Amino acid sequence: MALFLAPFSYLAFVHYPLAADLRRSILICGAISLGGFFVVLRLIPVAARYLLRRGMFGKDINKKGLPMGEITVPESLGIVVGIVYLVIAILFQHFNFTADSIWLVEYNAALASVCFMILLGFIDDVLDIPWRVKLLLPTIAALPLLMAYAGGTSIIIPKPLASYVGVEVLELGWMYKLFMLLLAVFCTNSINIHAGLNGLEVGQTVVISAAVLIHNVMRIGSSKDLETQQAHAFSIYLVLPFLTTSLALLGFNWYPSSVFVGDTYTYFAGMTLAVVGILGHFSETLLLFFLPQVLNFLCSVPQLFHFVPCPRHRLPRFDTQTGLLTGTKDGNLVNIFLRLFGKCSEKSLCIRLLIFQVSWTSRLETHSNIFLAAVET
Ligand code: UD1
Ligand code: MG
Repeated sequence: MALFLAPFSYLAFVHYPLAADLRRSILICGAISLGGFFVVLRLIPVAARYLLRRGMFGKDINKKGLPMGEITVPESLGIVVGIVYLVIAILFQHFNFTADSIWLVEYNAALASVCFMILLGFIDDVLDIPWRVKLLLPTIAALPLLMAYAGGTSIIIPKPLASYVGVEVLELGWMYKLFMLLLAVFCTNSINIHAGLNGLEVGQTVVISAAVLIHNVMRIGSSKDLETQQAHAFSIYLVLPFLTTSLALLGFNWYPSSVFVGDTYTYFAGMTLAVVGILGHFSETLLLFFLPQVLNFLCSVPQLFHFVPCPRHRLPRFDTQTGLLTGTKDGNLVNIFLRLFGKCSEKSLCIRLLIFQVSWTSRLETHSNIFLAAVET
């Protein structure tokens, strides 16, 4: 928690001279989010018992052949995080002192989309929906936000490119809404298919959320435009509770996992990050934070569209003697990392993939802020 929140807290409370009421809102949001962390910690063992009793569990595939691989691990614990998160995000509206009511319409529409996504994700965990239908779920869940969205539908063309395009501001109209829809579909599914190692689903989400938080506070600090500041403030209020509640889940899902997060969590996480990017008006930057997921998706295309056979689980081979994983021919980052950098344990592989995510996002954080500042001036 300290590791992930320290840079953000430093920037918000020491480095940038943020307005007092904004700081107060962030502080209250942080305090409620911290409460949410402890609630999730308390509730997960309880929910895990209920889920096991209902037969909602999975076997840990990367431990197959060991006694650990025979244990039934409760599935879909994302449902706990989703519910606690929604309660916090709904309650927080009471404490937001800076915004007008127009903002709250979109904020609530975003929450409706997240809530709808949690429901559909849980249905997927219960019914095990075929892959093609899975693609449709985020499309349905994004509808509340798409219908309520009244923000800008134009994008600013960076100065050096403006002379080629002919305009400085390109109005996209309904195409912008199509872009929002595609973003929701991409974010949800790309997190879901970059998975299968203990801690990877939640780990990547936590890294992206921490990066989004830092990005928001840097943009607030460096921008003089009130609307830009407000958009990024809303984005902070949505990400902060998401980060803390996810960290509590990570505690249980880290190697060796005592719970699995389920598609409930991966869809919920993808949708939350997508709405955060849309409401904060930085969806292009958000996509850049998803670079490892974009790479993983591109490598997966042949299997996803069945040009090449696709097994139910595209996971490495586990050697019970050495306890190491070996990469298979499947086209995903998990296996490509093993093929490139050699055999390793499940825990090290997860850490390597997370370091890749961190190094990419931190590099980008520096560049994107320099670039955005240049565009603004
Ligand atoms: C996606 C991936 C699949 C990967 C799976 C793992 C694609 C197209 N699909 O499918 O390749 O195997 O996620 O989540 O890329 N599990 C583990 N260890 C973990 C997490 C999950 O063994 O750390 C296993 C458990 O048996 C668990 C199951 O994966 O029950 C959950 O799979 P599910 O999330 O339903 O798979 P998909 O999202 O359909
Ligand atoms: Mg999944």
